[in-house]
Amino acid sequence: MVPNHNKYIPALGNERLTPFYDHQLLQLFMRESTFKRCLVEKAGIERSSRVLDIGCGTATLTILIKKVHPEADVTGLDGDPEILKMAKKKIINAGLDIKLDQGMSFELPYPDSSFDRVVSSLVFHHLTRENKVRTINEIFRILSPGGELHLADFGKPHNALMYLISLVFRHLEETKENIEGLLPGMFQEAGFEEAKETARFMTVFGTLSLYRARKP
Ligand SMILES: C[S@@+](CC[C@H](N)C(=O)[O-])C[C@H]1O[C@@H](n2cnc3c(N)ncnc32)[C@H](O)[C@@H]1O
Repeated sequence: MVPNHNKYIPALGNERLTPFYDHQLLQLFMRESTFKRCLVEKAGIERSSRVLDIGCGTATLTILIKKVHPEADVTGLDGDPEILKMAKKKIINAGLDIKLDQGMSFELPYPDSSFDRVVSSLVFHHLTRENKVRTINEIFRILSPGGELHLADFGKPHNALMYLISLVFRHLEETKENIEGLLPGMFQEAGFEEAKETARFMTVFGTLSLYRARKP
């Protein structure tokens, strides 16, 4: 079989499920507001920061960032035009000034050093190893020196219950590096420094980790 280098998985694995992405149950299962608030706190965003949310989906995190940091210049990017329509409605309803772009994480449509912070939530487990590497290299390229990546995604199980849950998901090609705890090492290989896990949460689908990495 010919490998598909640009393999793309929509928000809930199937485009017909996309309209249900903001369902309350999903938010409950993933402890969404808890981990997203924590991610925003850890991101150290400043008034003048240029912030990119990669795989912004319906823009829940993007909107939270703009509400907490109204002076920051916030952009959301996603590969799916349908989910971007949902994001746009939410942003208009919230009366916020947030730019939305359609694009792929592994071919970011921005010049070098365009952002001071890159955030991304629940996107890396959609990417093959090859596309994780391409995406990390792209993030490194578009961050300014001293800029930081703050990522939330499934991580290495941190207790017996989370380990048991991981047995269901660890065979999936896209979740392997997450569950084996390889992401910080992959950030370092791309040139990032101080790459580390900064927090972790128990969820119905396994350990959810927050990571930080800094471009020298
Ligand atoms: C599970 S959703 C997470 C959405 C949002 N970040 C959140 O935390 O609610 C994953 C999102 O990543 C997007 N996505 C997946 N692969 C992508 C890629 N390679 N480039 C850009 N967006 C991608 C999907 O379209 C989807 O909106």
